[in-house]
Amino acid sequence: MNVWGTVTWDIARAGGFAAYILLTLSVAIGLALTLHWQSARWPRLINSEMHNFVTLLSLIFTGVHVLAVWIDPFTRFGWNEVLIPFASHYRPTWMALGIVSLYMGLAIALSTWLRPYIGYAWWRRLHVFTLVIFGLVLVHGIATGSDTSTWWGVIIYGGSVLLVGTLLWQRLYWPANAQSNAHPVIAMLVLVITLVGTVWTVLGPLQPGWNVIANNGNGSGAAIGVPVTNNSAAKSSGSSNNSFLPSFTGQLQGQMTQSGPDSNGLTTLQLHMTILNGPQGTVQVTLQGQGQGGDDGGLAVSSSLVTLGGSQSAVTYSGPLTQLNGDRLWHMTALLKGTGASSQQILVTMDIRVSRNSGQCSGTISGTGSTSASGSNI
Ligand code: HEM
Repeated sequence: MNVWGTVTWDIARAGGFAAYILLTLSVAIGLALTLHWQSARWPRLINSEMHNFVTLLSLIFTGVHVLAVWIDPFTRFGWNEVLIPFASHYRPTWMALGIVSLYMGLAIALSTWLRPYIGYAWWRRLHVFTLVIFGLVLVHGIATGSDTSTWWGVIIYGGSVLLVGTLLWQRLYWPANAQSNAHPVIAMLVLVITLVGTVWTVLGPLQPGWNVIANNGNGSGAAIGVPVTNNSAAKSSGSSNNSFLPSFTGQLQGQMTQSGPDSNGLTTLQLHMTILNGPQGTVQVTLQGQGQGGDDGGLAVSSSLVTLGGSQSAVTYSGPLTQLNGDRLWHMTALLKGTGASSQQILVTMDIRVSRNSGQCSGTISGTGSTSASGSNI
């Protein structure tokens, strides 16, 4: 995975959070306006111009978010996947919520523009859907995003729910003036939905195995179908009794564990991964080196070992890495030699994304085999 892959994904994440925070502020300002929050001593900061400006900024950042998601070379979404609900190969249900909320947001923005034609009553009815949009985007971010379980992710989502929830509760339970009706039953319903949502978040998206569940077992979200020649031959393993030869591709899904530093000051990282959408098998990558300190837990790798094994392969392959680039998005290559009397070698290439917080790893693998009696690992 190259630098471009990191940049686009980081912009996608930052754009998503910027759009979400601005949407939260926009909804909060809107609610504060209906509650007639203003002080005689302060200039009227909370006004409809501010509300419109923040909403527009949120839409602009959503545009940045969606564009970066689309450009990202790791997931390689097609336009249809980014614009049509449920068409995505990556977390389809949860991405659909983001797509639907974008369309609803655009419709409500359009209704504000068309207000002189549709009338105030219709505009107001439509405006209630902004709360639905807030809910949909909240679930979209929590369930699709890779930063939900970071401490700052929890603070952003928790803080936004607290802010909007408190204002909404006040609007529904204690409306500001006599013209606005109180809706205690709806207020209770909102409270129940918030509690159910909190329990779901703790038991679902905040758990380490969420990536597999969210992605309907489809792997990491890496683009399906990395072009490697003769892939179909690789999957029909019967003739060679080896599902990795002559070549194969697949996706990787697993967990990273860390141990050390030991008495020599060496830290060990182990990536235990299963191959999905490819030949049945597992990949284990062990990296050992001197920790470089700092928050990001960098490692100056001094030794490495990659092991590839499969239920339909009599041979296990292992060897050190020949190339390791990147930080959380690792690009690795390794020349693996078959065990025992086997003279087979496989050159594997892996692009692996590791979540710093949960240790989840996911990515792609491709391998091309060769038979060489003299082959030695680099
Ligand atoms: C066409 C519409 C949309 C698409 C295709 C889309 C796609 C995505 C994808 C693929 C992710 C995962 C990124 C990651 O793992 O970090 C994501 C996360 C996220 N999205 Fe969207 N999104 C859309 C609309 C929106 C909207 C309208 C908002 C907010 C107003 C939003 C806010 C977020 C947030 C906060 C995250 C979490 C980012 C993270 O955890 O790092 N998205 N979205």
